[in-house]
Amino acid sequence: MPVIFVSKTNEIEGTLQCSPILNLTLTLNIRNASRKTPMTTASRRSNSRLDTLRKEAADCRACPLWKDATQTVFGEGPQAARIMLVGEQPGDKEDLAGKPFVGPAGQMLDRALEQAGIDRSKVYVTNAVKHFKFVPRGKIRLHQKPNTPEIKACRQWYERELASIKPDLVVAMGATAAQSVFGKITPINKNRGRLIDLDDGIKSLVTVHPSYLLRLPDADAKAREYERFVDDLKIAAELLRKSHAA
Ligand code: URA
Repeated sequence: MPVIFVSKTNEIEGTLQCSPILNLTLTLNIRNASRKTPMTTASRRSNSRLDTLRKEAADCRACPLWKDATQTVFGEGPQAARIMLVGEQPGDKEDLAGKPFVGPAGQMLDRALEQAGIDRSKVYVTNAVKHFKFVPRGKIRLHQKPNTPEIKACRQWYERELASIKPDLVVAMGATAAQSVFGKITPINKNRGRLIDLDDGIKSLVTVHPSYLLRLPDADAKAREYERFVDDLKIAAELLRKSHAA
């Protein structure tokens, strides 16, 4: 008698007793070919509106980061946004304000978006991880990069934001965002600056995180990298123009 179940990662797994006499056992592990990234059970629930998701996420305890953070910093932007920007995690300012990208990285992002011809108020801005991870150093809270279990635990919210908005394009800014968007570690330089298909006709674009630009010590390198970042965002602007024209 075949025993088949669908796992959380959307794989079909099971054990098939082919012949009780020969005691031959086949193990099936068939990845659902139609999905390019694994999808969790949470994201297969019916699509909720963003305000509902925001309320649910406020009580998220899927990883321990909620304990030290001030609050969940959920994504922000219109339900009808055509572009979804994904960062890493809220920083100190975002944690206090409860809004994504309002600190120094947010100012860098705003400037680049404007230069690329994208109105921030029309895009949805979110993070792969929705609680601030830090270590206290005196009066300062030092940013800590989220680890894979934290990124995985938080991915349900990215998936549910994606399912709710159904944007034309997801822009993954930096390695953590790329890991969340593609469901696996995805190198930035190898994938940067070109449109990559996700499921359901949604495109994605990988670029650097604005904080990376802030950290570059050399002024020339900073200017050069900033222009590359704007060029990447111009790809998003162009896609938006085409989808409006269509
Ligand atoms: N960096 C991020 O990745 N997200 C924010 O919201 C702020 C800084």
